[in-house]
Amino acid sequence: MCGIVGAVAERNVVQILLEGLRRLEYRGYDSSGVALIHNESLNVTRRVGKVKELSDAINDVNGVGATGIAHTRWATHGGVTEANAHPHISEDRFAVVHNGIIENHKTLRSDLTSKGYAFNSDTDTETIAHTIAELRKNTDSLLQAVLQAVPTFHGAYGTVIIDKHDPSTMVVARSGSPLVIGLGIGENFIASDQMALLPVTRRFIFLEEGDVAEITRTTVKIIAADGQEAKRDIVESNVEHDAGDKAGYRHYMLKEIYEQPAVIRNTLAGRVSPDGIAEDVFGEGSEAVFAKTEHIKIIACGTSYHSGMTAKYWLEAYAGVSCDVEIASEFRYRKSVVKPNSLLITISQSGETADTLAALKLAKESGYMSSLAICNVDGSSLVRESSLSFMTRAGAEIGVASTKAFTTQLAGFLMLVLAIGKHNKMPEELQKSILQALAELPSKLEETLTLADEIDQLAEEFSDKHHSLFLGRGDQYPIAMEGALKLKEISYIHAEAYASGELKHGPLALIDADMPVIVVAPNNELLEKLKSNVEEVRARGGIMYVFADKDAHFESDETMRVVNVPHCMESIAPIVYTIPLQLLSYYVALIKGTDVDQPRNLAKSVTVE
Ligand code: G6P
Repeated sequence: MCGIVGAVAERNVVQILLEGLRRLEYRGYDSSGVALIHNESLNVTRRVGKVKELSDAINDVNGVGATGIAHTRWATHGGVTEANAHPHISEDRFAVVHNGIIENHKTLRSDLTSKGYAFNSDTDTETIAHTIAELRKNTDSLLQAVLQAVPTFHGAYGTVIIDKHDPSTMVVARSGSPLVIGLGIGENFIASDQMALLPVTRRFIFLEEGDVAEITRTTVKIIAADGQEAKRDIVESNVEHDAGDKAGYRHYMLKEIYEQPAVIRNTLAGRVSPDGIAEDVFGEGSEAVFAKTEHIKIIACGTSYHSGMTAKYWLEAYAGVSCDVEIASEFRYRKSVVKPNSLLITISQSGETADTLAALKLAKESGYMSSLAICNVDGSSLVRESSLSFMTRAGAEIGVASTKAFTTQLAGFLMLVLAIGKHNKMPEELQKSILQALAELPSKLEETLTLADEIDQLAEEFSDKHHSLFLGRGDQYPIAMEGALKLKEISYIHAEAYASGELKHGPLALIDADMPVIVVAPNNELLEKLKSNVEEVRARGGIMYVFADKDAHFESDETMRVVNVPHCMESIAPIVYTIPLQLLSYYVALIKGTDVDQPRNLAKSVTVE
């Protein structure tokens, strides 16, 4: 989703801003812009399309300035046009970039219009620019104007404002949309994500909800939500500098698919051994919480929601604890009942998904015993706002379609099964079997990745298809859902997933030779049931692609292509069977020529509702 970068320095900051935007490209956007203050003038350049279009439009005149802000926009209010791209300007003096949504923008717009402000865009953001221009008339500084403006904005924002009459200062405000200050030597920066600033600094201050900050080259003054000046910790980042490198792969997504054995080794390292799971892997005090846990509620969005759905099967079957899973955007707007001794688990790759954060906030007020975040970004809002946390250690994930974040989340959940099962009379034999399965997992994934060529060939058969159906049963049903999500995200083929027992309750009506049916079929106790579902499809002329264990004894014929997936222990099968489905969508997308890493209309991190 949208990205923000800003700088106050002595040198020309245009390249720092553009590089920052490039590093945020993976989050998804449709237009971009930059505003620089130079010799008391404000130069603004905006373009629809990629950051490349913006940097090509920058020249010696509009590309100079020691203070500047830049933005990549993902349209929410107003179409994808140059006029709607940020920064937005008021009185040829104030420039504003903004992530989030100002919900009362219509009221603000009509008030400001009646005061004589002319609007040049359809965005909610422009109301921020004019509100600040208006308030600045009766205040002594930009900081004072922003402090007065903030209570008039309803909704979510991370915003940065500069004033050409005071080029030494940037003022920023955070409410519901993350901002991080980067500290340099004689220069300071702001961004919506630390990734943007790694080439210039590794020292960061993560702003908290309600913070407003005044940033100059040498000072940072933070005013907290209570109106008092606040001190915030400086955090030294250990995020890899070169996370933005494709390492020879054609796409980040392919690199990230192939990284899975290594990152899962990382996720497990020092946390599990043949003897069991280490103490307090899920955070200090987690053992005490698990000992009391009678119910688990999991909340997440997108791919992370699918890992939660898989975890429900595991937690109930292996750890004997009741669990339910819910999409964050649903949970946050309904009244729900909290069972006694409930543990809330949120899952998120980014830790900044607006709906998941809002759901966590609501849950914390509703009587959950404790909250655990399973997350890939240390220091993210979700991690900071939860009582317990578990880092998935997948490394930076750049491809919008999530791959390694998902499988590391699942590995984390198997560890959670062990950690909770320990307090829940989980049979020792079962614990041993999951420990052994986890130890084998990285090499099983390596073996499974060797199917790539076979899947590449099979992908040809999907290139002219418009619809597809994914089937699975038990803990493979969420894997079928994730497979369908991957295919629709990057190849734009309509894909639906069904628990195969539900076939006869509707989707069978869709079956014909034009609708490929993808089946995940490990050799488990549901295999015979699944085979009956396969026959139901065959009898109606369906064409199937079956990812199956060799011992499941599926044979390729004119109606069925079988890909044999390496045999693995049952508990890790959902993770292993994820790999061929990721590869399938990747190769189909390649044939279709889509933008694999930044699929149309999608964003990596959805920081608005
Ligand atoms: C977006 C991304 C998905 C991701 C979802 C949840 O939709 O495109 O890949 O699964 O957000 O993101 P999170 O960071 O909370 O896991």
